Amino acid sequence: MQILGIDIGGTGIKGAPVDTESGAMLADRFRIPTPTSGKPKPIADVVGEITRHFEWSGLIGCGFPAAVRNGKVLNAANISKKWIGVDADALFTESTYCPVHVLNDADAAGMAEMTFGAGRGRRGVVLIITIGTGLGTSLFTDGVLLPNVEMGHIEMGGKDAESQASEAARERLGLSWPAWVKEFNRYLETMEHLLWPDLIILGGGAIKKQEKFFSHLKVGAEILPAQLSNEAGIIGAALAARIKTTQG
Ligand code: BGC
Repeated sequence: MQILGIDIGGTGIKGAPVDTESGAMLADRFRIPTPTSGKPKPIADVVGEITRHFEWSGLIGCGFPAAVRNGKVLNAANISKKWIGVDADALFTESTYCPVHVLNDADAAGMAEMTFGAGRGRRGVVLIITIGTGLGTSLFTDGVLLPNVEMGHIEMGGKDAESQASEAARERLGLSWPAWVKEFNRYLETMEHLLWPDLIILGGGAIKKQEKFFSHLKVGAEILPAQLSNEAGIIGAALAARIKTTQG
């Protein structure tokens, strides 16, 4: 099935049509910078623009940087607070004239990694962490997703973890790689002591620079870099829309 996947991130909104059987993107991804206000209307307009770019008229899956239940946005850390309570499914359906299924961005990326990437065929407890503007997390048990796990907001030393250990935090705080790795190892240790995953997969924008930090990570569980990198969010959003439509 061909579905347009869209990934709404803190800095860019990206989309591409995806073949949900193979996980392949069927065209080069199209990216538009995220409007600075992060408010519903400008973001919905960009989602509409991406849809028009591909002259798309079918199903759309969309990853969104917040917890989302039945299309409704539940929180807002890296986007405008105006999103809280908004029915994103309905809003994007209006701006695209297509049926849209919205889900958490890390859940989308996790679904793609579990189906086509580093977590393919893996059973047990798998934690996926996307390191970008925020810290996105998704959790799978024997391949089944527990949605909207917001472990990026766990408290670490009295502060929100993502304000200290995300890629954006590294840049904002001007941390050297060793200083950031120390923070991130503290975060991994916290995750390990709370969830005891069999496997941790690291993705998001930071994974492009994995040579700077991956070999310095200290964790008891097996740890792997994501394989689909930047495309996981797009592919997973399309996949989630297919599953939603075919399974209700
Ligand atoms: C949000 C999550 C999101 C993550 C990555 C966090 O601030 O609360 O829902 O998955 O950022 O975008």
